[in-house]
Amino acid sequence: MVSGLVVGRLALVTGAGSGIGRAACQVLSKEGATVIAADRNYEAAVQTIKTHTALAPGTNGGEEHSAVELDVSNSKAVQDLVQDTLKQYKKPPCIIVNSAGITRDNWMLKLSEEDYDSVLNVNLKGTFLVMQAFAKAMAESSVSGSVINISSIVGKYGNMGQTNYASSKAGVVAMTQSAAKELGKFNIRVNAILPGFIDTPIIKTVPDKVKEQIMKLVPLGRLGNPAEVAEVIAFLSSDKSSFITGAAIDVSGGY
Ligand SMILES: NC(=O)c1ccc[n+]([C@@H]2O[C@H](COP(=O)([O-])OP(=O)(O)OC[C@H]3O[C@@H](n4cnc5c(N)ncnc54)[C@H](O)[C@@H]3O)[C@@H](O)[C@H]2O)c1
Repeated sequence: MVSGLVVGRLALVTGAGSGIGRAACQVLSKEGATVIAADRNYEAAVQTIKTHTALAPGTNGGEEHSAVELDVSNSKAVQDLVQDTLKQYKKPPCIIVNSAGITRDNWMLKLSEEDYDSVLNVNLKGTFLVMQAFAKAMAESSVSGSVINISSIVGKYGNMGQTNYASSKAGVVAMTQSAAKELGKFNIRVNAILPGFIDTPIIKTVPDKVKEQIMKLVPLGRLGNPAEVAEVIAFLSSDKSSFITGAAIDVSGGY
């Protein structure tokens, strides 16, 4: 008897080539899901599948994990992925994890319009495009499911140097709450996670001095690791969270 929180389910994870997305693939596959790892960086997505996923248990109908190249801000590419997925797996994914994200930090008074737009395009519009396209596929196939959007604690409290990023992440929470209201009737749940400071490549550009200041505000006194976010993703993907939708959950060490 195969056990696991999400045995036999198909999961799409964006931003799967690194950090939280990669950890989500690891934990979801360990819990029995078949994963589609999507990233703008195809080689990194392949690496996730090759070295970071558990083999889907034998009960998964012979389905195999796959890696795909995807720019979430490109609506045509997102639409194409829906069609390719339906062709390959004969069903839409019932777990969608929107983890693709970027930063282009700068003081607000110096922030370029280009850096504002690129962050909003990936973090907010990209989340919208993937959620819209795949929720539509789920609703059309009468598949119930769970969408998990990765926001940030910065979307709640703001952060110096991140007016663009904080806006995108606050938008993700409002979009999640709105989508949850619309998609409940299809039994599609939509939730957001607000990670605090997690040890992944995305925070490499944060100066050590700033990190030290932030640590003073974290009751648990350390950075989080990607697996600690991924475990919450697995919970929200599973029936253990069957009455949770429209929620925004901090995973921040108390920040
Ligand atoms: N690490 C943190 O401290 C932290 C905190 C709060 C929120 N987050 C959020 O968590 C998510 C994952 O971040 P992470 O820490 O794993 O960062 P990361 O940089 O390790 O991973 C992000 C991944 O997204 C991919 N990506 C970037 N743009 C893309 C696009 N247009 N289309 C598809 N893929 C794209 C990158 O190639 C990369 O593999 C992001 O949305 C980030 O904003 C991270």
